[in-house]
Amino acid sequence: MRPPAGVEVRRVAISALVRISADGAYANLALPPILARSGLDGRDRALVTDLVYGTLRMQRACDHLVDRFVVRDVDPDVRAALRLGAYQLTFSEVPAHAAVSTTVGAVGGRARGFVNAILRRVAAAPVEYPDEATRLSYPDWVVERLTADLGHDTAVEALETMNRRPEVSTRSDGYIQDRASQWVADLVDADAGDRIADLCSAPGGKATALAHTGARVVAADLRPARVGLVRDNAERTEVDLDILVTDATRPGLRPAAFDRVLVDAPCSGLGVLRRRPDARWRLDAAAVERLAELQRRIVDAAAELVRPGGLLVYSVCTLTGPETLGVDDHLATHHPEFEPLDPPDAPWIPHGRGGLLLPQAADTDGMMVLRLRRR
Ligand SMILES: C[S@@+](CC[C@H](N)C(=O)[O-])C[C@H]1O[C@@H](n2cnc3c(N)ncnc32)[C@H](O)[C@@H]1O
Repeated sequence: MRPPAGVEVRRVAISALVRISADGAYANLALPPILARSGLDGRDRALVTDLVYGTLRMQRACDHLVDRFVVRDVDPDVRAALRLGAYQLTFSEVPAHAAVSTTVGAVGGRARGFVNAILRRVAAAPVEYPDEATRLSYPDWVVERLTADLGHDTAVEALETMNRRPEVSTRSDGYIQDRASQWVADLVDADAGDRIADLCSAPGGKATALAHTGARVVAADLRPARVGLVRDNAERTEVDLDILVTDATRPGLRPAAFDRVLVDAPCSGLGVLRRRPDARWRLDAAAVERLAELQRRIVDAAAELVRPGGLLVYSVCTLTGPETLGVDDHLATHHPEFEPLDPPDAPWIPHGRGGLLLPQAADTDGMMVLRLRRR
């Protein structure tokens, strides 16, 4: 006999959490095939996705709540079940008795009694945290970094916003893209006939949007596999792009040949953590400086490609100082041939010579954009 759907949902969620947390799989890649094999209907699949993504976001907080009562090492599947149980008890609308019974029902063998005992204690105990990073469920360095760069209250609000499920927004051509990214594409201010270079274009979200204006877009990216995604997305959205694999630090394109050059740079992604719930546990603090170095090299090369009177647009989906203000400072110092355009209007806020979109401002991804005109 098949177990009730609620139990099956938890069983599928636990196997996904083990794949992601213990085996290191990426949530957005690991989950779809697991769901496809599950035999669950659409509603239950959506519930699995919510539970898995929510548990991954709140993993540190859940571990704390559970580990008050766990004194020995536990197997990955038991750890996943405990996290999932604590997530539902603390952060979801699932009633406590259903959270415990379905999760315990999804655990096989001898661990079942143990998981039951722990989750009952979690359900009965007050929710308390030793510090803010545990409560917010981010690595210490992420909280410290954004607090230092944005101020305490703004950072905490951004981090809380990124613990919530993102809305899905779909463009008129069917491409799913957060509104923040759509706004960045608009800010490139492309026109029919413009020559545009999008140097870090994969998977092609902004490049396809730019091509819809009738501009001629060169869509480049370093990684051949990701360039394949640009090709697929151009086909699906029915636009023509000149697609190429190249390193944006030495793109090999003709100097001063473009009306618009977009650098949507590789970054730490600290503005899109709600969309990538497992990313916060993979990143390391040193990545920020390493990426800022790469960003500076890319904008140096990109600046060469802009014709006099043309625009250089730099954007990142992160909120850290070195990747936003740091790159702006670098451009101000090393490229006096560029002058800034006015920062975009609200919900963007002025940030250096550019604009910052906080995730809490309009419930979007967090982004920074800087637009410079070559004199
Ligand atoms: C933020 S993503 C771009 C998103 C894309 N603009 C969109 O809207 O769909 C950054 C991209 O930069 C690429 N990248 C990383 N290093 C690069 C380099 N040295 N040259 C060119 N592209 C690079 C990555 O492969 C990744 O696809």
